[in-house]
Amino acid sequence: MKAQTAPRAKLEIALKVNGRSMTVCAHPMERLLDVLRHELGLTGTKEGCGEGECGSCSVLLDGTLVNSCLIPVLQAAGGEVTTIEGLAADGQLHALQQAFLECGGAQCGICTPGMILAACQLLRKKPRPNTKEIQEGLSGNLCRCTGYAQILEAVADAARRGVE
Ligand code: FES
Ligand code: FES
Repeated sequence: MKAQTAPRAKLEIALKVNGRSMTVCAHPMERLLDVLRHELGLTGTKEGCGEGECGSCSVLLDGTLVNSCLIPVLQAAGGEVTTIEGLAADGQLHALQQAFLECGGAQCGICTPGMILAACQLLRKKPRPNTKEIQEGLSGNLCRCTGYAQILEAVADAARRGVE
């Protein structure tokens, strides 16, 4: 008789998401991407490849850009996650969101949340990046629609406005 593997129990995992402390009940190896989208309803984080290649699922974990499709939720325990929903404040778009809107940096929008979070990380480290530095900062994020020119312009525009 074949031994049956018991399903792994769910755990209560405490973390902070977009500034709010919370506890989620999830299997420890469940992808952070799925917990964000399905448990917490934060559908701004997108799934593209599901394999760590496209950056569509990018979020900030303790201030560092990560592919949430590769991160087991247990790895985020005790950490602070920022998704695209966490950028706008008091009903005002973040400067990067506004710049993407005005420069046409978003078309289908699948890559956009990840691009903006990658740009956010870049501008925190380097508030006035040149084009090459913007390209490098976004190199882990793929876009199949825009040809990248408007995205680069949006990030440069946000940098000119000054991003906190
Ligand atoms: S969906 Fe995570 S990197 Fe593509
Ligand atoms: S806007 Fe469609 S993938 Fe970038």
